[in-house]
Amino acid sequence: MIESAHMIGDDRGRDLEGKGLDLLRSVSEYGEPLENHCRRLADFSLALGDDRGIGLDEDLVRCACYLHDIGLCITHPEERNYLRRGLDFALPRVKEWGVRGDDLALFEEIMLYNHSLKRVPGLDPRAEMVRLAVGVEHSFGVRSHGLSKESRRAVFARHPRRGFNKVLMSFFKTTLVDDGPTQVFGIFLPKAG
Ligand SMILES: [Fe+2]
Repeated sequence: MIESAHMIGDDRGRDLEGKGLDLLRSVSEYGEPLENHCRRLADFSLALGDDRGIGLDEDLVRCACYLHDIGLCITHPEERNYLRRGLDFALPRVKEWGVRGDDLALFEEIMLYNHSLKRVPGLDPRAEMVRLAVGVEHSFGVRSHGLSKESRRAVFARHPRRGFNKVLMSFFKTTLVDDGPTQVFGIFLPKAG
């Protein structure tokens, strides 16, 4: 396939997915359980985009999905909102990788709003696919947002959920103890950052 200039900007590096995974691995103590969560989220996002005719740049989406929870893997002396903390940490790296303009704006929206339970007015439809994908993932695939049972099962089979509850418990502790009680709702009753 010939990639369009929009999909891969002139100065944008390739393999954002690999770079995102490397960055996650540089700070994550959670290994495969968290990585598989990110892979499922990306697969659901891409499938939702396919279903609705919303074109997604797969490399960028997979990169953003690897980084969407990175704020829960790092600490910061002042920033107690994990969504903002993750974006502040990832953004300079993503810029170094050549992500610019529309791609960068989309990356920011994915990072800040993926956990929003309610529809976010004005959210880029591509970021909306990731927000809906979080709904599928967090509900163990009970919420479909139109994806077939077979396709949801296939994603969980490709990237097993084994070990992820332990990650969630650690995220719960991070938000409750380190970030403060109001941030718990960002994970378990998500809202916009
Ligand atoms: Fe997540």
